[in-house]
Amino acid sequence: MNITYTPDGGEFHLSNGIISYIFRIYENGYAGSLYFGKALSPARSYRHLGPREFRGFSHSPGDFTRFEYPSTGNGDFRIPAITVVHADGSSVIDPVYREHRIYSGKKPIPGLPATYVESDAEADTLEVDLVDAPSGIVITLFYSIFRDYPVIARHVCVTNSGITSGSAVYACETLTCAMSASLDLPDQVWELIELTGAWGREFQEERRPLRHGAQGVASVRGVSGSQQNPFIALARPGCDERTGEAIGFSLVYSGNFRAECEADSFGMTRVRMGINPAGFSWNLGSGESFETPEAVIAWSLSGLGGLSDAYHGLYRTRLARGFWRDRDRPVLINNWEGTYFDFNEDRLLSIARTAKDFGVELFVLDDGWFGKRNDDTSSLGDWAANTAKLPDGIDGLARKVESLGMKFGLWFEPEMISRESELFAAHPDWAVGVPGRTRTEARHQYVLDFTRAEIVDHIFAAISDILKKGPVSYVKWDMNRNITEPYSASLSADRQGEFFHRYMLGVYLLFERLTSAFPEILFESCSSGGARFDPGMLFYAPQGWLSDDSDAVERLRIQWGASLCYPPSSMGAHVSASPNHQVGRVTPIDTRAAVAFFGAFGYELDPARLSQSELEAVKIQIVFFKQHRTLFRTGRFIRLVNPYEGTDASWMIVCPDRSRAIVAFYRVLAKPFPVATRVKLAGLDAGVNYRITTWPERTPTGTTGSSGSTVAVESVVRGGDELMYSGLRVLDSAFFEPQTGDFWAKLFILDMITS
Ligand code: GLA
Repeated sequence: MNITYTPDGGEFHLSNGIISYIFRIYENGYAGSLYFGKALSPARSYRHLGPREFRGFSHSPGDFTRFEYPSTGNGDFRIPAITVVHADGSSVIDPVYREHRIYSGKKPIPGLPATYVESDAEADTLEVDLVDAPSGIVITLFYSIFRDYPVIARHVCVTNSGITSGSAVYACETLTCAMSASLDLPDQVWELIELTGAWGREFQEERRPLRHGAQGVASVRGVSGSQQNPFIALARPGCDERTGEAIGFSLVYSGNFRAECEADSFGMTRVRMGINPAGFSWNLGSGESFETPEAVIAWSLSGLGGLSDAYHGLYRTRLARGFWRDRDRPVLINNWEGTYFDFNEDRLLSIARTAKDFGVELFVLDDGWFGKRNDDTSSLGDWAANTAKLPDGIDGLARKVESLGMKFGLWFEPEMISRESELFAAHPDWAVGVPGRTRTEARHQYVLDFTRAEIVDHIFAAISDILKKGPVSYVKWDMNRNITEPYSASLSADRQGEFFHRYMLGVYLLFERLTSAFPEILFESCSSGGARFDPGMLFYAPQGWLSDDSDAVERLRIQWGASLCYPPSSMGAHVSASPNHQVGRVTPIDTRAAVAFFGAFGYELDPARLSQSELEAVKIQIVFFKQHRTLFRTGRFIRLVNPYEGTDASWMIVCPDRSRAIVAFYRVLAKPFPVATRVKLAGLDAGVNYRITTWPERTPTGTTGSSGSTVAVESVVRGGDELMYSGLRVLDSAFFEPQTGDFWAKLFILDMITS
């Protein structure tokens, strides 16, 4: 068992040999942190790591205690994990220990996405009940420690037991904040890392020293948002990709969130993460419970790379689920940037036919196939094919695509309704809005009220009808606006604070029903690109469209930032047209592929507009990708040269037994008279030699070869030790002729020499 309890001192020690998480129950019943970090001996007591002295003008223990789940009104004046309003209007909550349970395995969280185990041996769980006796509120803290990862998954269940110690009978409690986790750390020598951005430039990595006071990231948009992802890390100054201590906090949730650190006046740091308290409240009647989403806390002493290793492994194999979790994904072509709304069946089939010749395996029809939709002003909610464009309907088109030897995929935006739609004409009250107020339109559309079961039922039936009829193998689930005027006619006045979370529960319910009804369909989540690219979505859809910005150079930063927490297998990445539609940049087609290979790979262009040499290049790209796609999906992804720090970028992917690796080097801007550039690799076997070949293949003319094989004109042998400690000379003339010009990329394929 990885969890021990020592009754003398009330100490809990969770350890898996990699990390230890230690806290204790103080004499007054408070649960207080003692330690989180590298594994400590389980045989000792660590109670001396708790507070010894209480100072301050309040003489309150609160300010000096590191709490497991801090509350309000009891002398701790920092940011709380829980706040309530009792029926009498008071808000003190003072939870003390009552009992605990330790068991093997990990339970699901009803109605919510969460990490899971496939056998009880993979994790142990501790549940601790804290009770606020006067109100009868019971707070159950859940901690699961994974056997194979330096990770603790936490969430909380708050129950109004209805059993109070005093005379007051609180029939109804109102929760106004219930965080998934709070962690008090004993010092402040940290830098805060966040992933910030906007549409088209999601996942921009930012790092700054902690300052006194509260700081963090949040969303009130109804989605996790492209502005700030529900992930933060604390890193020691100097912590880099491979060395130094870092702690990651990731929320398995897709709605309004907050991740916040408070560096207090007494040298400690509190981190809290969970549903954003802004705009949130939840009524808890007697006997009712509220489950928070899960926060996944990872620890590393091997820099940010160590954090990413933990999240990638856990999220790829124990958060993503289903048929596609462990399968190579089909190479797809999506028609969005190729045609936008301007298509008919002939044009689509002609794209599909050419793509099939390249080796593409899945044709995806994006927006514009339903109702009367020829632009973004109408028809969301009317999920029936526009027969003016598609005379034989979706099933007819899907069969024609299948007869070409490809699979067929389809775009939906299930949560939306256009004002110009049959659905809106029939049910104007289904759109989210406050009676008597104007609804804000965004992209000419409103959001359906997914807190209402009948609306979720209707959309489930409409989408299922289409999926049942035609051979549809893939669904892209989009969500293209934020939620304004939050209000549901189905909720009483005192329950409107529940709207945003109930909306997410509706989304998760629909996802659960569709993925259960169609288990072999590959789902890809999307929200104007990466506006809802988060762990919650990954539970239902093993891949998500990372960004509408498909420019190769922009994507270097986006994929680099996203990879702090998310595995490449989860990141939709496509080769699109040049000049690029988002930034107008002209890049070589092989550079675009060399970036997109490190994701769920596909194309998003009209092949009719490609030149002959580009068409040839695409064929070779697909041969290359198929040869290596298991490695791209399952390998260990290691960041090497940071695109935020200069004009080059580099990363690599290594297979688990280290016998093969692919290193990518991207020269974004050319340099005159370049000095030899070495990239220090990582994750290889130091004791063996690797044969290095390159892609695109070098030919005497300097153009891409035609075979798609990775055999270079000259192959080079280097030791794993040299490649890691001296570095790979990426500009070496052994690999290719000197390159000039901007935006070029080279992949180095390293194969271990065994004999
Ligand atoms: C969003 C998505 C795009 C595309 C369009 C269609 O912007 O991110 O990929 O599907 O919607 O309207």
